[in-house]
Amino acid sequence: MFEWLDTPQVLIEKAVMDRNLKAMQDRATALGKRLRPHSKTHKSPELARQQLALGADGIMVAKLDEASVMLSQGIVEQSVGYPMIGPIKAARLAELMLRGLRPRVSVDSPEGISLLQAIGSKLGRAIEVLIEVNTGLNRAGLSQPPLVVAMAERIARQSHVHFKGLTCFGGHIGKQGSLDATIAEIEAEDAMLRSLAGDLNRAHLPPEVVSQGGSIVAHFAEHLRVATELRPGTYIFNDMATVQAHAAQLADCAATILSTVVSIQREWAVVDAGSKSLSTDGTREGGFGHILGRPDLRVLRLSEEHGIVARVDGGPVSLAIGERLRIIPNHICTAINLHRMALLVRDEDVLGSVAISAAGGVH
Ligand SMILES: Cc1ncc(COP(=O)(O)O)c(C=O)c1O
Repeated sequence: MFEWLDTPQVLIEKAVMDRNLKAMQDRATALGKRLRPHSKTHKSPELARQQLALGADGIMVAKLDEASVMLSQGIVEQSVGYPMIGPIKAARLAELMLRGLRPRVSVDSPEGISLLQAIGSKLGRAIEVLIEVNTGLNRAGLSQPPLVVAMAERIARQSHVHFKGLTCFGGHIGKQGSLDATIAEIEAEDAMLRSLAGDLNRAHLPPEVVSQGGSIVAHFAEHLRVATELRPGTYIFNDMATVQAHAAQLADCAATILSTVVSIQREWAVVDAGSKSLSTDGTREGGFGHILGRPDLRVLRLSEEHGIVARVDGGPVSLAIGERLRIIPNHICTAINLHRMALLVRDEDVLGSVAISAAGGVH
């Protein structure tokens, strides 16, 4: 399989990726919701442009490194998801705005608002902000309704910060494995946002945008009554996490890591994809990825450059040195970030390559 390629190598089945992109855009359009895909999954301006060409409103980035790479390829409408805190971030965001960036920034603190107000007044432009809500992931974001309303009122008092609405990322959703549990979690997030939107309406600060992140939530978007915008990232490729959450099938997984068997022991084989190719993210079901076409095998352990592949039933592995395996990572976003380039393929034909230009951009 792909004997002429060096490994480990990211392969993207182009037809599957194209289908995933179109299906999500069609779902959003059919439900009357805007789509702002999170580009941290692919970190590629070329793929972001494909999402925009299909109808996305803009893109989301986590970090300013990603924003800069995307902006340098002409992508100006960007939501910046990571809290902007401190003078270095302020200077960098201002510089990107001078280069043409039109940011929509998530905030959950008075410090974050002050930083944006300072940039906005210096540049003579109002910056759009969304209040980040914690819907259960327990990361950043406000949970208590009075605090959300107070934050919106604080934003409304600023001259160069424009209150646009609410944003959340239900990254906890879909981890329990049962479809019923996933739907219940999605409905709980929807109920919380609906209630907050009601509070804001009563405070005469209606949210124009209610933005929900995550491919699992977006896959079940027919349950969302208040969202105006979806921000899925993983959906472009899918991974074992989206499969286990019933938001994709194995056949919807577009990206695999091509690897080579480099050593055979009695009860395991070693492939040349370790934590620096697959990332270490786990799933509820264990292992470090799914080996295409080999349900009898699993990736048992990883060290940096070695993946230990064993039989699910513990018996001797039936692999040969030099054999190629394609592995679907558990979490495609962290895996892609480890690579500089991916190949677009159709079965065994290489159609082209994609630069993962923002890989490693963590600032
Ligand atoms: C704020 C935010 N929005 C959207 C997403 C996209 O989620 P997913 O990759 O699960 O589709 C993420 C993912 O981490 C995120 O952190």
